[in-house]
Amino acid sequence: MKEHNQTLGEFIIENQKSFKYTSGELSRLINSIRLAAKVVNHEVNKAGLVDIVGDYGGKNIQGEDQKKLDVYANETFIQTLINREIVCGIASEENDSFITVQGNNKDHNNKYVVLMDPLDGSSNIDVNVSVGTIFSIYRRITPVGQPVEMEDFLQPGNQQVAAGYIIYGTSTMLVYTTGHGVNGFTLNPAIGTYYLSHPDMKFPEDGKIYSINEGNYIHFPQGVKDYIKYCQAQRDKDPYTSRYIGSLVSDFHRNMIKGGIYMYPKSSSAEKGKLRLLYECNPLAFIAEQANGRASDGFQRILDIQPTELHERVPFFCGSNRMVDKAESFMKAAQ
Ligand code: AHG
Ligand code: MN
Ligand code: MN
Ligand code: MN
Repeated sequence: MKEHNQTLGEFIIENQKSFKYTSGELSRLINSIRLAAKVVNHEVNKAGLVDIVGDYGGKNIQGEDQKKLDVYANETFIQTLINREIVCGIASEENDSFITVQGNNKDHNNKYVVLMDPLDGSSNIDVNVSVGTIFSIYRRITPVGQPVEMEDFLQPGNQQVAAGYIIYGTSTMLVYTTGHGVNGFTLNPAIGTYYLSHPDMKFPEDGKIYSINEGNYIHFPQGVKDYIKYCQAQRDKDPYTSRYIGSLVSDFHRNMIKGGIYMYPKSSSAEKGKLRLLYECNPLAFIAEQANGRASDGFQRILDIQPTELHERVPFFCGSNRMVDKAESFMKAAQ
């Protein structure tokens, strides 16, 4: 067995000195996410045994049917963060608006906001396919001592101080960046500890996997259709492989390890695509760039988009550098 000695807890302490702000708050925040992820992981693993699969019975603000695990994961992350006195605000895919956290002393003195997709790929829960959690962390813009405001959440992705995801897969992993590369930690479920298993993760410069829901093909913009045809037809001797799990976190994770591109373009039925800029695209774009990859809306860098609303959607092209470059060139040529 390969030895992985460094735990996530040790890694966080050792790397704290490289943070831009060293109050220890960000370390405590990542620690809280690590803890909440263990709780959610425990529940995800029991899916099928206890009454946690299936619909919750409500719709979220995105118009999606909420699954029981969407609601469970959302509440677990929110409660864990609130109880630990480390954030001043939380925004989630599953909540209509952001939550203001005043803190025990009611002084609004905490500095970080968290934006999250508490359970990504939730349509896959009922069929025992990997799901995930995505999180994004910013410093507040408004001064401490007053409640957070919308502007604290509507920051461009290039202002993120940390971002990461948890993948509840064949093994459970936490992958994150604080702007100094990307590291992956695997949970040893027997003792409940994450170990550094994937240090300094990098997208291969080029890849052969393309991931897109081709069922929407006829609704895609011409540039996307052309790029798909390029993937299929232009490489007779060395064809690309199509892989689409339908859990963004899992598709992203595979492509980062093997080399590939993930695409969720706009379509004639979804003018801005489906994925959410703040909870899905920005954190994964930050991780991609920190891992030698790229993320684009087809024409511009995801991280430079100024958000205008919490639940904003955006077309998403993310993965190995050369593949995103190529996809962009097809988009621009077809404009
Ligand atoms: P969520 O479960 O958080 O709502 O996200 C669903 C997303 C993402 O995980 C996945 O890549 C995409 O929806 C799949 O959408 P399609 O079923 O339209 O391909
Ligand atoms: Mn959803
Ligand atoms: Mn999602
Ligand atoms: Mn979700």
